[in-house]
Amino acid sequence: MNNTIAIYPGSFDPITNGHLDVIERASKVVDKLIVGVLVNSSKRPLFSAEERVTMIREMTKHLDNVEVASFEGLTIDFAHQNGARVIVRGLRAITDFDYELQMAQTNRILAPDVDTMFFSTSLQYSYLSSSTVKEIAKYHGDISMCVPEYVARLIEDKMKEI
Ligand code: PNS
Repeated sequence: MNNTIAIYPGSFDPITNGHLDVIERASKVVDKLIVGVLVNSSKRPLFSAEERVTMIREMTKHLDNVEVASFEGLTIDFAHQNGARVIVRGLRAITDFDYELQMAQTNRILAPDVDTMFFSTSLQYSYLSSSTVKEIAKYHGDISMCVPEYVARLIEDKMKEI
C-alpha cells in the first residue's frame, strides 16, 4: 500500500496503555496515523476534547507519523476529510467483537472506500478500559499499570476537581 493514511477514532477518556500499544503498533504499518478524539455532546467525559488531544499528543510525541485531532460527527467523514482509507481499532476480547464488527460493517456500508483494520490488544492490556481506569481512580486505587505516569497525574488532579 502506498502512502496509507489511517485514523484511529475513539473516546480516549482517558488514553490508556492499551490504546498507546495500538497506536505504537499501527504507526509501524501505516504511513500516517491520525488519532481522532470524538467530541460526543451526548456524553459527559471526564476530560474535555482539548485536554484529551493535548494528553495524547504528549504521549505520542516520539512517533513522527502520528497526529492527533478531535472530530465531531461520523468517523467515516473524519476519515474522508483526512484522506484516510483505513480505520484502526483495537480488539481486546470476544466481548468487543459484536460491537466492533457492527461498527466496521456500518462504516463499510457508509464508505466502501474505507476499511477497518483490527489490532489484537497485547495480552497484558486485555483487561484495560478507560471506564475501569476512571473507576479505580475514583476510589483512589492504583492506576500506575493502566496509564502512563503523566496521564495518571492528570486523572488524579481531575478527580480532585470533581
Ligand atoms: O473509544 P470508543 O468510545 O469505543 O470509540 C467509539 C467510536 C468513537 C469509534 C464510535 O462511537 C464512533 O465511530 N463514533 C462516531 C459516530 C459514527 O461514526 N457512528 C457510526 C459508526 S457505527
